[in-house]
Amino acid sequence: MSLPPSQLAARRRFLKFLAASPLAAFGASAQTPGSEYFVPLTAPKDAFSVMDFEDAARRALPTAHFGYMESGVDDNLTVKANHDAYQHIQLRTRRLIDVSHVDTRVELFGATFDSPIFICPTGAQRMFHPDAEAATARAAKSRNALQILSTVTSVSYEDIAKARGGPVWYQLYAPAKWEQAEHIIKRVEAAGCPALALTVALLGGRNTEAFNRARRADKRDCSECHTGAPGSDLSIRPMFKGLDLTGFQMNPSSLTWDFVDRVKKTTKMMFLLKGLESHEDAKLAVEHGVDGIIVSNHGGRSMETLKPTIESLPEVLDAVNGRIPVFVDGGIRRGSDAIKALALGAKAVGIGRPYLWGLSAFGQPGVERVLEILQAELLLAMRQCGKTSLSDVTPAILSPGK
Ligand SMILES: Cc1cc2nc3c(=O)[nH]c(=O)nc-3n(C[C@H](O)[C@H](O)[C@H](O)COP(=O)(O)O)c2cc1C
Repeated sequence: MSLPPSQLAARRRFLKFLAASPLAAFGASAQTPGSEYFVPLTAPKDAFSVMDFEDAARRALPTAHFGYMESGVDDNLTVKANHDAYQHIQLRTRRLIDVSHVDTRVELFGATFDSPIFICPTGAQRMFHPDAEAATARAAKSRNALQILSTVTSVSYEDIAKARGGPVWYQLYAPAKWEQAEHIIKRVEAAGCPALALTVALLGGRNTEAFNRARRADKRDCSECHTGAPGSDLSIRPMFKGLDLTGFQMNPSSLTWDFVDRVKKTTKMMFLLKGLESHEDAKLAVEHGVDGIIVSNHGGRSMETLKPTIESLPEVLDAVNGRIPVFVDGGIRRGSDAIKALALGAKAVGIGRPYLWGLSAFGQPGVERVLEILQAELLLAMRQCGKTSLSDVTPAILSPGK
């Protein structure tokens, strides 16, 4: 059916108006330099979404450091897939329910946190901000959020527990020599660590191509966080103090379930595996007495074209069948992403890059604002779905077939 000329002109005028209106800028492009309504972020309070911190971090950091943070492996396809997968899951609203009070507290191994959104372990945060993991810990304290500290932290476990005002969880990369692993495990346990997460996502090696390109493009010397090639001088890592580092190696490809059994026998801490994605491994984890699983592909930094973690979560949950808590991380950028993972059965959900963007740009206040935005978005999503507590967040809020 063709429209008369007067109506056609009116329609063209309306389309032109829409294209020029602020509505056209909404969506991811609104956070990107070059988009019509883009304004560089100068204070954490001005951020609308956690993505606003990404550009701020890019501007704050040397190319090589930003490249290290952002990159995945090969062509960064797993990084992208982790996030994109959330957009293929739809939520279902419920109306006319009193949602004026929403409780997002979660109990994890006996400790209560205000939000199910936790801070994933990320290494060497002095690369991103001089206050490093201590700034992250103070932000975690102010929001009462769970923080997991990386093996390769720039600040010791003991100092982070002080900054957080209580123990944090610790993530372990397996050293090739058992005595070295034992030394670190005993040290964090003596410092009051309640839970240890062994990361198993990097045992096969990885091709950090985008990072290598960023490093080549940035010739600055950076003795702040490393001497020589990044990662070459492990002796500056506080958690390796007191270790004989001759021939030191982490994440050996020879590692097996024997190591898991040994850790389990060595410690009374809760013991999690971080980096499982299959039902076979989840079943084995339960059989080996593991206390929790973090479904993770290391933020797309371990292997290319992996299944997005949100799509691996169901098979892990099936295998575990409620016997131990299952957590998930990777690609969570909105509260609406978090609620989908929680609805599928995750006990809590982790973020990596978003808080690093906040840290890089503004230190502690940046991390706080990232946590605040995600929490506000999660509350919004819970209210829209008619849910007032996390125990009510079930698959019923997801569209059938998702
Ligand atoms: C810069 C960077 C460093 C990381 N370092 C570690 C680490 O030391 N130990 C670890 O278990 N995971 C590490 N991860 C993976 C995170 O714990 C987490 O699995 C991942 O970042 C979640 O994905 P997201 O960044 O998309 O939120 C790192 C991730 C990034 C981005």
